[in-house]
Amino acid sequence: MIEITPLLNLESKHPIYIQLYEYIKNEVEAGRLPSKSKLPSIRRLAANLHISQNTVESAYQQLFAEGYIDSKPRSGMYVMPLEEKLDTIKQPVETFSTVESYDEETSYTLDFYQGAIDLTHFPLNEWKKCSNEVLHHKDILQYGDHRQGERKLREQLVTYLYFSRGVNSSPDQIVIGAGLQHLLGMLSLLFRKKQYTIAIEDPGYKGAKDVFKNNGLTVHPIPVDRDGIHMDELVKSESDVLYITPSHQYPTGVITPINKRRQLLKWVNEAERYIIEDDYDSEFRYVGKPIPSLQGLDSNHKIIYIGTFSKSFLPSIRISYMVLPPSLLKMYKQLFASYVQTVSRIHQEALALFIEKGYLERHIRRMRKQNRHKRDTLLKAIAQYMGDHVSVIGEKSGVFILIKINELISESTLIERAKKVKVKVYPTSRYWSKRSTEYPMIQLGFGGLTEKEIEEGISLLSKAWFKES
Ligand SMILES: Cc1ncc(COP(=O)(O)O)c(C=O)c1O
Repeated sequence: MIEITPLLNLESKHPIYIQLYEYIKNEVEAGRLPSKSKLPSIRRLAANLHISQNTVESAYQQLFAEGYIDSKPRSGMYVMPLEEKLDTIKQPVETFSTVESYDEETSYTLDFYQGAIDLTHFPLNEWKKCSNEVLHHKDILQYGDHRQGERKLREQLVTYLYFSRGVNSSPDQIVIGAGLQHLLGMLSLLFRKKQYTIAIEDPGYKGAKDVFKNNGLTVHPIPVDRDGIHMDELVKSESDVLYITPSHQYPTGVITPINKRRQLLKWVNEAERYIIEDDYDSEFRYVGKPIPSLQGLDSNHKIIYIGTFSKSFLPSIRISYMVLPPSLLKMYKQLFASYVQTVSRIHQEALALFIEKGYLERHIRRMRKQNRHKRDTLLKAIAQYMGDHVSVIGEKSGVFILIKINELISESTLIERAKKVKVKVYPTSRYWSKRSTEYPMIQLGFGGLTEKEIEEGISLLSKAWFKES
C-alpha cells in the first residue's frame, strides 16, 4: 500500500476534500502514483491526516466518479491505469490577447456611452400595460408561433418599416433575432456556404466585423470619407457582399448622399451581390428630411435590411429584425429549418401590441425631441468649454457624436484624464483597420444623460484635457 502525504491547507477557503482529490489526481496523472497501487483505507488516511473520514470519502468518491481509482470489494481502492499520459495528447491551447479590456473597477459619475437610453422619459406604464395584457393571450407561455418570430410582430413591422423607412416587405421576409450580431451570424453562415467575401466600412462597426471574421468570412475594409464609402475601392475589392450603415455611418456619422446610394445600387445589381443595410438609429435625424432606406430604393431585391429596437425602444429587450430578399429567404429556410426562434415570445407579443396601440410612434417622437435638445446642449457646451481645441463630427443624426481633438494628445491620455474626473468617454481607434488620422477622436453618446449632466461632463472634460499641462 502506498503512503499519501499531501500538504493540506486547513485554513484555505478551498474545501479540504477538493485539495485531497486534486493532490491524488495530479499524482496519478504525473505517474507518481503508479497504476494498480493500493490507496490507504478511508479510516487510515483520515487518521494520518487528522481530517474526517467523510472528507476522505468525498475525495475518493470524486476520483472514482472520474475514473482515476477503482474499488475492489473487500480489498480497497486502487489506482486505475491511464490510457496515455495526458501531457502527450494535449492539444495546443490557443491563447487570445486581451485586445480590449473591460474597465469594471472604476466607478464613473458620468458615462457618455452611446448605447444608453433615456430612462426618465421611458413609457414604463404603457409597456407594463402591454406586457400584462399579453400574459392573457392564448399559448403565450408556450414556444413561439413561428421560427422567424411572432407573426403579430412581423406584421406590425411591415407597416412600421414602410411608413418610417420606405422599406418594402412582407411578414414572410422578416426574421426576428436577439440583436444585430445574432442576425449577422446567421447571414455569415449563408454567405460562407456561397463562399462570398464581405466588404465592410473602414472605419466601421467592430461588433459587425468581428462576427464576420469569427464566422470565417474574408473581410475587405473599404475606406469611408465625407462622401461615404469609396466606390473604386469597393469595386477593386471584388467583394460579393457589402455591410454598410448608410443612414448614419458608424462611427463617423456620414449620411450617404443620394448619388452614392445610386452608385451602390448599380454596384449591387451588376453581379450576384448583396448589400446588408444596417439602419440601427435612423429614427433620430435632426437636420433635413429622413433619407429613405436603400432597400426602399432597390427594385431588384438585393438589399438585406436590418434594424433594431435597441435605440428606438430598449437595448435590454434584445429585439432586432432583418428583411430578407426572396432569393436569400429560400436559402435561409433550408439552412435554418430546424432552428428555434431566440427572442422571448412574451416580449415579441408585448412589443407588437405596443406598436399597434401607437405607443412606439409616440415614444420615438418624444425621444427625437429629447435627443435633439440633448444634442443642442452638447454642441453648445462643446463650443463654450472646448472651443477650437476640438472639431465636432457626425452631429446631424443619431445619439452620439465624435469629437476630433485638434491637439497632439494621445487617445489613451484623453481617456485616462477623463477617468481621473470620473467621466467615461470612448475611444474610436478600434474602428479603423489602420489608424489614419494623427489627431485622436473620442466618441460621446448623449442619449442616456440629462442635459445638465451633459453640460457638467463637457465642463469636466475640458478642464481635464486642456487645463492640464
Ligand atoms: C452600428 C450598429 N448597428 C447595430 C447596433 C445594435 O445592435 P443590437 O441590435 O445588438 O442592439 C449598434 C449598437 O450599438 C450599432 O452601433
